[in-house]
Amino acid sequence: MSDDLIFSVKNVTLRFGGVVSLNDVSLEMRRGEILAVIGPNGAGKTSLFNSLTGVYQPQEGQILLSDGHGKTVSVIGRKAHRVSAMGVARTFQASRMFSALTTFENIKIGAESHKGIGILGAMLRGPRTRRGEHDSDARTIELLDFVGLRDKANVISSSLSYGDRRRLEIARGLATGPQVLLLDEPAAGTNPTEKLELTELIRKVRDVMGVSILLIEHDMKLVMSLAERLYVLNFGSVIAQGTPEEIRSNDAVIEAYLGSTTTTEGK
Ligand SMILES: Nc1ncnc2c1ncn2[C@@H]1O[C@H](COP(=O)(O)OP(=O)(O)OP(=O)(O)O)[C@@H](O)[C@H]1O
Ligand SMILES: [Mg+2]
Repeated sequence: MSDDLIFSVKNVTLRFGGVVSLNDVSLEMRRGEILAVIGPNGAGKTSLFNSLTGVYQPQEGQILLSDGHGKTVSVIGRKAHRVSAMGVARTFQASRMFSALTTFENIKIGAESHKGIGILGAMLRGPRTRRGEHDSDARTIELLDFVGLRDKANVISSSLSYGDRRRLEIARGLATGPQVLLLDEPAAGTNPTEKLELTELIRKVRDVMGVSILLIEHDMKLVMSLAERLYVLNFGSVIAQGTPEEIRSNDAVIEAYLGSTTTTEGK
């Protein structure tokens, strides 16, 4: 696999009993791009993310991941923490953070867990963990600045607005220093102003940090303005891929979203 690709997915099928969540899915993600996966509810988008991150193990097909240094490994058969250690970070569709901790603490845990201190060690602050603490503090402050949450560093995260929570999740993903960040509906629950700010932030993550972005998003305006290429899933299958312009005018996509566009007249 060329090093210009981060992920190469070939003919992946994932089943849960009789449910086929991914059906013969093939996809390529290039290094440096903002790529989106769209599709109706239940299309298999989150299942794809779970397969790319080692959470789900597809029964068929191949998922190759480049480590960015000329080495390529198979994701299938690897545990999620090992995939994460190869520079794959993600956020979740349903917010996942330590809601009783502050913004600062949440990001710091992300930074420390990456360095092998472990979440428990980071929380208990045993003597062995103190060595790395200064570095993690500096990194956390950098990230707070980057996502625009510096003034909310000491706010308990459960009292943050939806938009700020989504920023915090992105900062936590970035704390591990990834090559690629997978965002599962990063703008869910946010208002139009927050959506615009998140769009800017996600673009900045790629432009300034050089982190490639794979994005699931239902908001068409957001996804079409942000993504350079898109894949469309429907009932577990890729039904289209292309640029925003190509996807907007694709008949199969319009049909998947709006129901049948053809009438039965004349049949
Ligand atoms: N762990 C699981 N066990 C059983 N079925 C699952 C599991 N995970 C996903 N599925 C099924 O796979 C299909 C695809 O679900 P998935 O969550 O990937 O869709 P999605 O595109 O992310 O939908 P949404 O837009 O609603 O988030 C669904 O039929 C779902 O019920
Ligand atoms: Mg989903």
